Amino acid sequence: DRHFSRAQSLSGKRILVTAGPTYEPIDPVRFIGNRSSGKMGIAIADELCARGAAVHLILGPSALSPGKAGVEVIRVGTAREMHEAATTLFGRCDAAVLAAAVADYRPAKVAEQKIKKSGDEMQVSMVKNPDIAASLGQSKTIHQKLVGFALETQNGLENAQSKLEHKNLDLIVLNSLTDSGAGFNHDTNKITILDRGNKKREFELKTKAAVAVDIVDALQELWG
Ligand code: CTP
Ligand code: CA
Repeated sequence: DRHFSRAQSLSGKRILVTAGPTYEPIDPVRFIGNRSSGKMGIAIADELCARGAAVHLILGPSALSPGKAGVEVIRVGTAREMHEAATTLFGRCDAAVLAAAVADYRPAKVAEQKIKKSGDEMQVSMVKNPDIAASLGQSKTIHQKLVGFALETQNGLENAQSKLEHKNLDLIVLNSLTDSGAGFNHDTNKITILDRGNKKREFELKTKAAVAVDIVDALQELWG
């Protein structure tokens, strides 16, 4: 039903959102990061806030901020910082929306001093970061809802379905990067939402603010 009133429809709910990239330091002046702008997650935090939810936004290094003053922003740098903030807050939350582009690996050691240029090649040894979505999926109670994202360049539906199940999520939002105008650093996005009942909902290319409305509608439907 597209005609229900959205205003204050999430009052009483406390919701965690992760957004943006993570930066994984190599030395005091360098890091490994990714091109996430944080726009999609910030739009979701704003939409949740507009519906009256208490919102904790854990935001990686992003030039952007939420538009709604009611969103509580916790700024973090690395995946491990994001993981720590998320595990601390999730216990008090009714849901989490995991929109961050978390670095899968980090440099095994951070050099104390700026690394000097030497030979013609250099190697950076990397170790795996914690999977925030999977760890919240393991700890969640039946009352808590989890929404993840999947950004795929091939076999999108299969990969998204597998992440939905393996991370114990309730919904997964598949980003279609193949459509021009969708994804990182664009103002628009084209998504498909998959649920645990094998239901698949495809949406048109829309602004990220309009996509956020569709995602929050789908989350809200889980509570009936
Ligand atoms: N995610 C997370 N913590 C990580 C990696 C991913 O919370 N360390 C979350 C993302 O925020 C997203 C979902 O898991 O909601 C899927 O992220 P994605 O990078 O697509 O999946 P991965 O499991 O990392 O698989 P791969 O990158 O190999 O496709
Ligand atoms: Ca990944």
